[in-house]
Amino acid sequence: MKPYENEIQALLSQMTIAEKVGQLQQCGPSLVGAFEVSFEELLDMMFDGRISHEEFERLMGTAEQDYHEEALRAGRIGSYNGIADPEIVNRLQKIAVEETRLGIPLLFGYDVIHGFRTVGPIPLGEACAWEPDLWRRTARLAAQEATAAGIHMTFAPMVDVAKDARWGRVSEGAGEDPVVSSAYGVAKVQGFQTEDLSRPDAMAACIKHFAAYGAAEAGRDYNRVDLSPQRLYEEYLPPFEACIQAGARAVMPAFNDISGVPCTGNRWLLQDVLRRDWGFTGVTVSDSNAIAECVVHGYSRDKAQAAADAITAGVDIDMSSDVYVSELDRLVENGTVPMEALDRAVADVLRLKFELGLFEHPYRTDPDRAARDINRPEDRALAREAAEKSVVLLKNDGILPLQPEKRIGVWGDLAFSREDMLGAWAVGADGNLCVSLADGLTNQNISFVSLQGETGLAEVASCDVILAAVGETKDQSGEAASRADIGLPEGQEERVRQLVDTGKPVIAIVFAGRPLAIPYLAEHAAAILIAWHPGVEAGNALAEILYGAVNPSGKLTTTFPYTTGQCPMYYAHTNTGRPGGRSKFTSKYLDTPLEPVWPFGYGLSYTTYAYQDLQASRNGSGALSVSVTVSNTGDRSGDETVQCYFRAPAARRVRPVRQLAAFQKVHLEPGEAQTVSFSIPIQSLGYYTPDMQYTVAPGTYAVYAGGSSRDCLETQVAL
Ligand code: GLC
Repeated sequence: MKPYENEIQALLSQMTIAEKVGQLQQCGPSLVGAFEVSFEELLDMMFDGRISHEEFERLMGTAEQDYHEEALRAGRIGSYNGIADPEIVNRLQKIAVEETRLGIPLLFGYDVIHGFRTVGPIPLGEACAWEPDLWRRTARLAAQEATAAGIHMTFAPMVDVAKDARWGRVSEGAGEDPVVSSAYGVAKVQGFQTEDLSRPDAMAACIKHFAAYGAAEAGRDYNRVDLSPQRLYEEYLPPFEACIQAGARAVMPAFNDISGVPCTGNRWLLQDVLRRDWGFTGVTVSDSNAIAECVVHGYSRDKAQAAADAITAGVDIDMSSDVYVSELDRLVENGTVPMEALDRAVADVLRLKFELGLFEHPYRTDPDRAARDINRPEDRALAREAAEKSVVLLKNDGILPLQPEKRIGVWGDLAFSREDMLGAWAVGADGNLCVSLADGLTNQNISFVSLQGETGLAEVASCDVILAAVGETKDQSGEAASRADIGLPEGQEERVRQLVDTGKPVIAIVFAGRPLAIPYLAEHAAAILIAWHPGVEAGNALAEILYGAVNPSGKLTTTFPYTTGQCPMYYAHTNTGRPGGRSKFTSKYLDTPLEPVWPFGYGLSYTTYAYQDLQASRNGSGALSVSVTVSNTGDRSGDETVQCYFRAPAARRVRPVRQLAAFQKVHLEPGEAQTVSFSIPIQSLGYYTPDMQYTVAPGTYAVYAGGSSRDCLETQVAL
């Protein structure tokens, strides 16, 4: 029997249809101002110039937050999103518990994606640490800060595999590979939830966006997704299944359709796969307004049908579309929607509230902690560790680490920006808490010349080295931030060329929420660090790396193409019948190299590593045993992520030329060698046949191990 079943049934037996539908209603505070039009209309008026920005701000100044207290008192709201003030949380909770007929406590959800107040690197950056223990620890800190503010559920981790760098939300996940994304998602679920969800500092993980949102056609956000069931199961579903097995208690269906059926109305996805096949017993929360958008998709005829489609498909909570509260009562009363469908959804919501302990302890906020423990040194130290481990050294002609006596010039707005260090989805965080690159240099007592502005170039002559901070602001990635050109934003490359033309060595520090097409930098910069958006400790982490106190160890979890035109570009591609090569009639472009600038898994260090003695065999327990010896051949210690890949033999469907099977990060002192071993379940090497039978192809497998998807030793093993 599912947990709390008796308590749930006892409550259901007392609830009216109106109260049941109320439990499925999730809303956020809405703005009500002294203006005649809706907030959305006011925004449009500003965007199209009918009112000035100043006028918009003035009118916004008259706006107040409407928390819909009357609907709450009537038992018509079951949860909120977007509230992170413990006083407001407690006030609303008090209404729910003391002023509604049944006193069912509220659930508060929030987007705690990569930190709450102490914001760390964006997920795509933190993924480059390849370190589950770190991912868990940063999630734990986020949960401690968020729960003190009254948050019970986070809409995270986002585990959408993403292979198209044009898509802005690649920033929010762990990259292009299902194995890395699975490990990342599991660690985040464990960090957010712990083993006991009723702990006051535990919060439910709502994994998202289910499913294949990262496969949006052309990398354009919200666009259609058309995938074979085989690729869906082999490449996009595994991180979600791994997170469900790790105990994730909520799932958010994606905005997109899959082959014509919106996830929000997709019974096969939400009932057959998620609940029947994977045994999920938690809550599904629609994405914002997604139920209403089933009509816009052209899938549901009207809002009434959208309500019926969503509830029968298995969407429990309606986030911010108001479709359930406007349609569902009548649909159940007239028998269009069976009471069982409504009861099942309400039971899921009540179950999560019981698991969170909200019936016994509805006031889980800790206003003192929320106010007191922000910006603690130990928390910032963790954010700095995560930032240091997320930075990827892509090129170094030897200029790094910098010598302290070198006189440096600094160019680029991003070098002086604190706010942009937060990156996408740092909702509610304070950019002033961030250390910019310039701050970080100053904190290390490193003086530098600013090369900003028209006179900047003239100052170059007095410098030995130039730090060029290039890339994207925090608003150029994340949701609704697809880019049709993933090169450096407007004007940056032109200035970098001028800096390079001075003859002084240029070190590029690239802030980004996605892989960028930066072939000019690859060729002409003396060194390149990909910093992503590193969070509150950005500048301190970068200064430590630039001057060698920290040896960079990050490895890419996404492929860096030469040009946007190569997108989507990823390492686990199939061979085709004519793999790109010298001959004309092979799979390639006339105007762009075949290979990426930097491949998946790639990242340099201030030391060097050598790999030898790769061995692979089938062991007695039916697993694939792989071992490889890695040694530190340089003069300083470092951390190396050893990656193990495989290529399957000919099979009934073509298979990728390389697939990550496992990875392990090791610390090596200068001269030290370690033999790293992997035990890989042979079942994990399988694939789906054309008739969707999961099978492991017999034959000889190629096995690879090394420091990137490209630089590997190879051996074979018969399985
Ligand atoms: C957004 C996002 C989703 C987020 C939700 C609540 O539209 O798609 O990731 O959790 O709304 O903010």
